[in-house]
Amino acid sequence: SQVQDMSKEKVAAAKNMAFAFDIDGVLCHGTEPIEEGKKVLKMLNGDNELGIKIPYILLTNGGGKTEEARCAQLAGLLEAPISTDQFIQSHTPMQALSEYYETVLVCGGEDFKVREVAETYGFKNVVHPKDIMAWDPTISPWGIFSEKDRANAKPRDFSKMKFDAILVFADSRDYATDFQIIMDLLLCEDGKLLTKAKDPVANRIPIYFSQGDLVFATNHKGPARLTQGAFRIAIEAQYKALTGVELERVVYGKPERATYTYADEVLKSWMEQIHNENKLPENIYMIGDNPQSDIIGGNMYGWNTCLVRTGVFQGKEGENDSHNPANFGVFDTVYEAVTAAIQKEL
Ligand code: G3P
Ligand code: MG
Repeated sequence: SQVQDMSKEKVAAAKNMAFAFDIDGVLCHGTEPIEEGKKVLKMLNGDNELGIKIPYILLTNGGGKTEEARCAQLAGLLEAPISTDQFIQSHTPMQALSEYYETVLVCGGEDFKVREVAETYGFKNVVHPKDIMAWDPTISPWGIFSEKDRANAKPRDFSKMKFDAILVFADSRDYATDFQIIMDLLLCEDGKLLTKAKDPVANRIPIYFSQGDLVFATNHKGPARLTQGAFRIAIEAQYKALTGVELERVVYGKPERATYTYADEVLKSWMEQIHNENKLPENIYMIGDNPQSDIIGGNMYGWNTCLVRTGVFQGKEGENDSHNPANFGVFDTVYEAVTAAIQKEL
């Protein structure tokens, strides 16, 4: 019948669309869930007029713990099942680097959680800045070193080790120590601590940052808070001031193209899992709060972009971002964005 044909068409359209959600400022404020985020996930997980799953992935510049730990935390906050197979955090694509580097300094995040992250990615010899501080506390005159750090640090003889790369996975919790040890490794000879390179560039080990956001949305009442991009700029400025040369570095995360191509692959295999179809949906909607990462990245990659008012973006009612306008529109919350997209496609 006509009704059946119509619903068949709608089901096909629902499988031909997908959402990529930013987390901070869209679904959560730090560890507080945004109510509309919960509502949206429930709807996409099948609580809708068609009773089918509309595919979505989470694409965040956050990081600092394993994908498994973060998905479990988010599932609790948002009261929805969240699989690691639909989840990309800033450092997820950096696992490919474990093929090239064995001994890595890994920085950022709470406690020593990034150690486990790097080990699950396959890095053989993972060093945390606090391991180095436990070996020689004089290395960081203004650093913080707690009893808990002492219990978890793995001091070794770092004078004998050759580092292959520096990986910044998340926000520093001890800027003094991270700045100092990163600078030590950038300025030493071929990744060997306590040495000093004659030429700052020739044998310098590479440095990678998991994302470039300057600010992010938290539960703070005032303007958005500084994040990893601000830390990177400080490293770049210190290196330039000390050597006279620009620091060459690699940045992952949104809005870098590599992150979006990675997201396509994840979405494709997620489609296979939930709908048994090995096909990338044609109409992808990025829902984000940061014009400088979510929106510019989505626009460049040919996705539909929706900017929400629950995070970094602070424009007035009726305004879009002037530099990187969202091409599908600006919405009060993630719920309005998702319902508008569904209305357009189905
Ligand atoms: O540190 C920035 C990061 O937390 C932003 O996360 O989810 O807004 O991309 P998200
Ligand atoms: Mg955000």
